[in-house]
Amino acid sequence: MRLLSSLLSSSTLLAHNFTSRLRIPISFQSHNFPRLFSMDSSEASLRNALSQKLSAVEAQGNAVRALKAAGAAKPEIDAAIEALNGLKIEKASIEKQLQAVVSGGGGDGSLNRESFRQTVSNTLERRLFYIPSFKIYRGVAGLYDYGPPGCAVKSNVLAFWRQHFVLEENMLEVDCPCVTPEVVLKASGHVDKFTDLMVKDEKTGTCYRADHLLKDFCNEKLQKDLSISSEKAAELKQILAVLDDLSADQLGAKIKEYGITAPDTKNPLSDPYPFNLMFQTSIGPSGLLPGYMRPETAQGIFVNFKDLYYYNGNKLPFAAAQIGQAFRNEISPRQGLLRVREFTLAEIEHFVDPEDKAHPKFADVANLEFLMFPREEQMSGKSARKIPLGEAVSKGTVNNETLGYFIGRVYLFLTRLGIDKDRLRFRQHLANEMAHYAADCWDAEIECSYGWIECVGIADRSAYDLHAHTEKSGVPLVAHEKFAEPREVEKLVIAPVKKELGLAFKGCQKNVVEALEAMKEKEALEMKAALESDGEVEFYVCTLGKNVLIKKSMVAISKEKKKEHQRVFTPSVIEPSFGIGRIIYCLFEHSYYMRPSKAGDEQLNVFRFPPLVAPIKCTVFPLVQNQQYEEVAKVISKSLTFSGISHKIDITGTSIGKRYARTDELGVPFAITVDSASSVTIRERDSKDQIRVSVEEAATVVKDVTDGLRTWEDVWSTFPHHTSASAED
Ligand code: ATP
Ligand code: GLY
Repeated sequence: MRLLSSLLSSSTLLAHNFTSRLRIPISFQSHNFPRLFSMDSSEASLRNALSQKLSAVEAQGNAVRALKAAGAAKPEIDAAIEALNGLKIEKASIEKQLQAVVSGGGGDGSLNRESFRQTVSNTLERRLFYIPSFKIYRGVAGLYDYGPPGCAVKSNVLAFWRQHFVLEENMLEVDCPCVTPEVVLKASGHVDKFTDLMVKDEKTGTCYRADHLLKDFCNEKLQKDLSISSEKAAELKQILAVLDDLSADQLGAKIKEYGITAPDTKNPLSDPYPFNLMFQTSIGPSGLLPGYMRPETAQGIFVNFKDLYYYNGNKLPFAAAQIGQAFRNEISPRQGLLRVREFTLAEIEHFVDPEDKAHPKFADVANLEFLMFPREEQMSGKSARKIPLGEAVSKGTVNNETLGYFIGRVYLFLTRLGIDKDRLRFRQHLANEMAHYAADCWDAEIECSYGWIECVGIADRSAYDLHAHTEKSGVPLVAHEKFAEPREVEKLVIAPVKKELGLAFKGCQKNVVEALEAMKEKEALEMKAALESDGEVEFYVCTLGKNVLIKKSMVAISKEKKKEHQRVFTPSVIEPSFGIGRIIYCLFEHSYYMRPSKAGDEQLNVFRFPPLVAPIKCTVFPLVQNQQYEEVAKVISKSLTFSGISHKIDITGTSIGKRYARTDELGVPFAITVDSASSVTIRERDSKDQIRVSVEEAATVVKDVTDGLRTWEDVWSTFPHHTSASAED
């Protein structure tokens, strides 16, 4: 998660009693990383065993050469060669084990990660799940189109998102423009801070993301150079773990130390420097109103806070949601659909009283247990482990109930879509990975052939965004808590005497007034005491960068009793932010598998999408080309349309086995085959089991199973079974 540092001035921090938690820079000693992370023990012992075996092979090789040179007897030489071969076999076996540990195995167990990815992508592109945009003009990196089945999957994912979040929580959905005036993104910090560090090929000018080059270098060394020592491997892993936090200087130093060059040309690289990822534009023909394509949808919600709060009856908590396109001019997008320059975000901003972050529905998710990766466990080199959510919140691992509630809901959302729960973990941000204003952040990371990928960021951003827009726009984005009875409170009143200050400080009067008004209670009372005893006091004005002399006549400080009818405060915001394209790509990988054809001569592709996600829910096939069967197919199709079930009729003369294979490759869960005028078969994609139902029942059965009203097991035990005569089963 890219989090922005605060741009608020120190006086703003004081005025809003904003607790500043600075990013802690990683400290370096001669560019060595502190040992925060330890390596997995089996990998360390394999690396040690391999380095010992390599030395033994070398020593034995030398021994063989020495025997030959000395003209030793043949049996003696043969015995030495046999020992050498034995050592080589042992070395190869350790290499194999180490390779398995470092590469993490393939997506389907038999293929390695890259060829697994290639196979899945080939299928996805061939079946038009997605298409590189502007392909006939050779495309543009980082831009993709969804083709028909991809569009259908995306719209199913978004429909479920609306049902699972917007509907369930009564969220207020908004739809704001992508083109955003500069002032909004200046206030949010994006204009100044939404950057990645870039390096350029010094000869060709090609740009690369600096941290990606260092990451690739470390990964490649770890995976391909098995001979590196366990110390070196631990150092590289350490770099990978803190990569997000490295400053430009630190990254530059590591790139130099490891001799990293431009991947395509091997030319030297420039020093890293920040590149703002927003696409800039101007609004209107004059070019005088600068704007940007929004890099996230959240700001549209924040700037509408006042109206949304009113719409909600001036009550907290409430959540607003938005689905829409976001634009980021990524430096060198690779990783297919995972890092693109335009993508769909679905974001929730849940506004809550900072003094009460309890959630009334937390009990609904408290018993969920799934992989969590708290920061302490990351720091001590442990792996993610299953933790009951209730325990994570009660022990304070997760900062508060509302944040915990959303973590639980995100888990349910992703797993119901079909994400494998064993390849989903919630990773907490390290202290120095979080912006200083954030109270706690967790990323839902999904493991795919590219490794663990952040797909949803869930952050408690405290009051940062509403403060920032209040400050810049002058419109208070605040909430009110009305008291049942007025409360008497003692309030500090600082009243600068502007006439006196004007005479004394002329042009700087405003700075002095602001500094006086921004004093905290303790400081103000000390000033009051000093003015009463000495008549004057030295006072540091940070915006002037110097002390000024304040006299008793210049300011009145008092404590007054006041009746208050309400509390006015800036709400905190808890923000789950979903990268829809990343979720969909991971879903493609998690759903994909291959199985042999009946003849065993080819491998067939299948996507095991749950009906909820499947691009088409059902196919309808007349078993053979005949008019009567086609008429029945049309009747069933009509009923399916009436029930709102997406489907496709295939009346080609292709064999039924081939037609099943074609729809399995699109992940269609059910196939209705018309093989008589009165009854039909329904086949379930993964088990290939078939039941026989009447023509009239067919659409209802498919609808019930698709909508989750009945399970396949249930219909399987209700209807007669059909044994296929086709080539496939
Ligand atoms: P990363 O570190 O991977 O660049 P980020 O931390 O910048 O991501 P956020 O700013 O937290 O991401 O954005 C919220 C979500 O948007 C991410 O969890 C991710 O799913 C998605 N996302 C961010 N950048 C991209 C991108 N270039 N392409 C596709 N999805 C993206
Ligand atoms: N339902 C016909 C077949 O699969 O052969």
